[in-house]
Amino acid sequence: MRAILVGFMGSGKTTVGELLAKRLHLTHRDLDDVIVERAGKSIQQIFDDDGETAFRQLEHSVLADTLVNSKGILSTGGGTPIQAANYELLRKSDVPVILLNVKPETVLSRLADDGQRPLVKELGVGGLIGLKEKRDARYHEVSDIEIDTDELTPAEVVDAILAHV
Ligand code: S3P
Repeated sequence: MRAILVGFMGSGKTTVGELLAKRLHLTHRDLDDVIVERAGKSIQQIFDDDGETAFRQLEHSVLADTLVNSKGILSTGGGTPIQAANYELLRKSDVPVILLNVKPETVLSRLADDGQRPLVKELGVGGLIGLKEKRDARYHEVSDIEIDTDELTPAEVVDAILAHV
């Protein structure tokens, strides 16, 4: 792995990860996609059928495998660095962890119509802000590099990352 992107839901990890990988001629993996492949069902279905705890176990196991087996760019899920075991894995890896910082109002505008994410359904967009506040310290602690993304296009976020790595 050459870079790992972390950040809250709606921070642009997947879009930026794909663009960054293209610019560097590397592969891109999205942790949620690998989880969906492994489970054979959507994230929403995993939450509905098996519960969030089962999702978190799967997420941990997929993260551990991906860190060992993949080269390239990894986009994590918004909750990935929050679990202590994942936090340790990320801190221990010698790959730069890049935080895509995003303001609450940007999250609200990007996720207002989201029909995909179980936590948006469960908490409502308003509840997401409280969740983000709880998680923010962890995002900062786990990261080597932070990019404030609110005023930037995805291509500009990639430029900002490339200026650091
Ligand atoms: C989650 C974020 C999602 C996905 C799952 C849980 C979270 O990923 O992993 O719905 O706990 O923040 P994105 O950040 O890519 O939306």
